[in-house]
Amino acid sequence: MGKITIAIDGYSSTGKSTIAKQLAKALNYVYVDTGAMYRAVTLYAIQNNFVGDQDDIEGLVNDLPNINLKFVPNTDLGLSEMHLNGKNVEKEIRTMKVSGQVSKVATIPEIRHKLVEMQKQMGTEKGIVMDGRDIGTVVFPNAELKIFMTASPNARATRRYKELLDRGEDVSFEEVLENVQKRDFIDSTRKTSPLRKADDAIEFDNSDMGLAEQFGRIHDFALRVIGKLG
Ligand code: DC
Repeated sequence: MGKITIAIDGYSSTGKSTIAKQLAKALNYVYVDTGAMYRAVTLYAIQNNFVGDQDDIEGLVNDLPNINLKFVPNTDLGLSEMHLNGKNVEKEIRTMKVSGQVSKVATIPEIRHKLVEMQKQMGTEKGIVMDGRDIGTVVFPNAELKIFMTASPNARATRRYKELLDRGEDVSFEEVLENVQKRDFIDSTRKTSPLRKADDAIEFDNSDMGLAEQFGRIHDFALRVIGKLG
């Protein structure tokens, strides 16, 4: 059976990564969470005072060669974790502190260029499920299967809020909803590769759909495409 490239894009907190991970596991494909890469660069920018009260975007861009990103497999968990300059930052990159700055960092063309090149490199062998915002439009415009996930802002904020509470973060629902809406706006209006549905992507609204149903449908799409390619 021929291996394909699967691109999963969409708004924040639509559950892209959950489905992408399950799909990769079921197909025995590699899973790549590109949001983790933008988050790790953002963490570096925060730690080195390039973003915060005052931004120094030029300084951050000049410092790019010193940012080393690596997905390191965690065999116990059966997935890869983001390492920034040799340190596992998987937990830190998911905090609200990083979420509050990441969309801004992701607008910087030099950063997008560096990360997109790395992502293209990871996909040369196919057999990959990658999720993000510009995978079907910029990273893999020739992907055989493209899914564009959407859900209402309320449904997404509710999911994100639960996740953050489970992780012990002290946040309010309003704060999370505001972050989701703000990121939607920045992600879809930025100049360099804004979030948009690729013309040949399947739009998938999961506001009222459980995980099992979502997985079942998307897995079927994938099997159909893989079958067709024989
Ligand atoms: O998927 P996520 O919420 O972890 O992504 C974090 C941020 O990174 C998101 O607000 C926009 C940015 N991002 C991007 O611009 N392009 C991608 N391919 C992935 C993420």
